[in-house]
Amino acid sequence: MPRLTPSFLRRAEKINPLLPLLLRACRDLRSAQNELRWLTEYARGCNSGAHPRWKPLLLDLCKHRSQGVPLQYLLGSEYFGELEIRCGPGVLIPRQETASSVSYLASRLRQGDFGDLNLNRLRVIDVCTGTGCIPLLLHRLLSRCCHDSSSLRLLGVDVSPIALHYATLNRQLLLDSLLDESRTMAPLRLDGIISSLLSMSFIQADVLPSSVQSQRSTIPQLLPALRHLGEPSWDVLISNPPYISSRAFATTTSRSVRKFEPRVALVPSTTNTCFRSKPELREYLHHVNQGVAKLEEGDLFYPRLLDLADEMSVKVCLFEVADLSQASRVSLLIRSREKWKSVEMWRDEPTLPPDGDGQEPKGSFRVLGRGCGRSVVCWR
Ligand SMILES: C[S@@+](CC[C@H](N)C(=O)[O-])C[C@H]1O[C@@H](n2cnc3c(N)ncnc32)[C@H](O)[C@@H]1O
Repeated sequence: MPRLTPSFLRRAEKINPLLPLLLRACRDLRSAQNELRWLTEYARGCNSGAHPRWKPLLLDLCKHRSQGVPLQYLLGSEYFGELEIRCGPGVLIPRQETASSVSYLASRLRQGDFGDLNLNRLRVIDVCTGTGCIPLLLHRLLSRCCHDSSSLRLLGVDVSPIALHYATLNRQLLLDSLLDESRTMAPLRLDGIISSLLSMSFIQADVLPSSVQSQRSTIPQLLPALRHLGEPSWDVLISNPPYISSRAFATTTSRSVRKFEPRVALVPSTTNTCFRSKPELREYLHHVNQGVAKLEEGDLFYPRLLDLADEMSVKVCLFEVADLSQASRVSLLIRSREKWKSVEMWRDEPTLPPDGDGQEPKGSFRVLGRGCGRSVVCWR
C-alpha cells in the first residue's frame, strides 16, 4: 500500500480538513472525496431531533472511518443489484459479485435452462441469508416477469439474530417502497408482487448438525424447523455460506474485514456442532470426500448443503465459493454424488465473455464469465 506523504496530506487538507482522516482508510484522493460527499449527505440527512448539528456528526463519522470501520456500516446500507440493503455491525456487507450471480441465476431461470420449473409457483430457500439480500433481489428480478407472482415463495434462514433483524427490516423497507410504487403501477399486477413479498419470511435455524451436548440449544436445526413450518420441499436452494478456513481468514482477508465483519459469516464455526475437534472435522471431511473432492476446512458447509438439498427435493442449487479451487472441489463433490445432471462454475461476472486467461474448463466442468471463480450451480 502506498504511504501517505506529509505534503500529500497537506494538499488534501487544503481541499477539505476532513480528507486526511478519510485518506487513512481509502488511500487515494478521489475515493476520499467521494466518501466525504456520501458521509456529508448522510450527516445532513440525520440533521433532525437526535442530531441537530450535522458537522460534529460528520467529524465523528470521519474519525470512525479513519479507524477502518467500513463505509457501509457508517452509512447503514449498501447497494445490491438495484436494491439498497440495510446493514450494520454483526452482519456481512452484501457484495456485488454475489448480486451478479443472483441476477444471472434469475435470467437462467427465466430462460427455463434448469428444466421444468414453474416460475409463478417457484419455491426458493436461501440458507445463510445474512441481510436477506439474496431472496430480496431474486424476488425483485422474478416477481416482475411472472404472470402472477402471488405464489412465488422465498424463505431466508440464518443462525444469527442480528442477521434476521436486518433481513426482516430490509423486507419491510422493500414492502414500503412497493406500496409507494403502487400509486403509479397497475394495482392488479402489483398485488401479486406485494403478496409474494408478504409471504417471504426469515427464520432462525442452524445448518450444521449440533453436538449431543448442545442439542438442547434454543436454535432449531434446519430440517425440523422446515417441517414445523409445514414446508419441507423447495425448488431452488441458494447459499453463500461461511467458506474461508481459519488460516485463510488470518492471512488473506483485509484488516477491515477481519476487524469489523462478523467472523461467523466468513469462517465455518464448529462450536456447538458435532465436529468440535479438528480430528472430528477431518474425519467427517474425509468421509464425505469419497476419495475425489479432497475437501478442506473452509468447505464444511457444502456437503451438508447437498444433503439438505436431497432431503428438500431441491432441483437447482447455487453455492457461492471463494475461488476456482474451491469451485473445483465443490463441483467434484457434486459429481461424486451422482444425483445431479449438470454442474457449472460461474466467475464474478458470469455474463461477460472470458478474458482469455485460464478460461479452459476445469476438470471437464463448464466455466462461465470473467473474474474470479464465484459460484457453483447444479441442477437435476
Ligand atoms: C457469507 S454470509 C452470507 C450473507 C448473505 N447471504 C450475503 O450474501 O451477503 C454467511 C451467513 O451464514 C450465517 N451462518 C453461519 N453459520 C451458520 C449456521 N451454522 N447455520 C445457519 N447460518 C449460519 C452467518 O450468520 C452469515 O449471515
